[in-house]
Amino acid sequence: MIKVWDAAAFDAFERTGWAGRSEAYENGFARLTAHTVIPLLDLAGVAGGDAVLDVGTGPGLVASAALARAARVTAVDASAEMAARAQAACPDAEVHAAALPDLPFPDASFDAVVGNFVINHLGAPEAGLAELFRVLRPGGRLALTCWDRASMRATAVFGEAVAASGIPYPPDLPTAGPFLAGADDRPAAFRELLAEAGFTEPRAEGLEWLHRVDPDEWWASVVAGTPLTGSVIARQNPATAAAIKHHYDTAVAPYREPGTGLVALPAGAVLAGARRPTG
Ligand SMILES: C[S@@+](CC[C@H](N)C(=O)[O-])C[C@H]1O[C@@H](n2cnc3c(N)ncnc32)[C@H](O)[C@@H]1O
Repeated sequence: MIKVWDAAAFDAFERTGWAGRSEAYENGFARLTAHTVIPLLDLAGVAGGDAVLDVGTGPGLVASAALARAARVTAVDASAEMAARAQAACPDAEVHAAALPDLPFPDASFDAVVGNFVINHLGAPEAGLAELFRVLRPGGRLALTCWDRASMRATAVFGEAVAASGIPYPPDLPTAGPFLAGADDRPAAFRELLAEAGFTEPRAEGLEWLHRVDPDEWWASVVAGTPLTGSVIARQNPATAAAIKHHYDTAVAPYREPGTGLVALPAGAVLAGARRPTG
């Protein structure tokens, strides 16, 4: 059984879990992650001419927004499929298939490093932060996001539907990543981790918004486009998958917006940033 804190097994799951999911991710889940792109770039102070690294770029949302600011953009993703999608979306960026904690860049290469919902996909987040520190120039800025479980209904409804269906959780799948595992105050724990990694001026704050989406489309895009929820549901037989979907429908019903056909699901993230010391 994979344990939440087993870094190597979690990374191995991540390396295989995204295969075949990049198109569904871009068309579905990325509409949720898009919400934090501008706050992320603002926190990192990304401006024209800056050398910026977007880690875990996925289909390239952050890279694209950084290019729109006339930054010089490099992007990496562990998934070659995602990296190819990002390169297609961002022809003016330099995109690599590469995985934290081993990036193919010299020390102090970037003025700013940003990562939208990637730190929570790392088996060894501390090693990932050390690598981001290494490639950031002294005085350069880091900005990262992760989910805030307390306010995150948009994905919690899937786990609740699986639990309500009564199926045993697949013993070979992780239940969560190691990042901030067990931390009640995630912004505080994030700040502490940044300080421990040697960064200065660590800060972290919660962001909350409503994810407005057709509930059937959201179901389909999360099942097809995310490695963990997708794997749990895709391996069920049709009757069990239908039972889980029924529980999902019940869970999202309170969030229906009358007359629109949409649900407005509360979503929440932690936006964190820091600076590499100059000394
Ligand atoms: C939730 S997606 C976020 C994608 C994009 N940043 C966004 O905002 O939509 C996480 C991405 O991190 C990538 N990833 C997972 N582990 C990684 C690692 N160790 N190094 C680099 N990328 C990684 C995945 O392949 C996936 O594309």
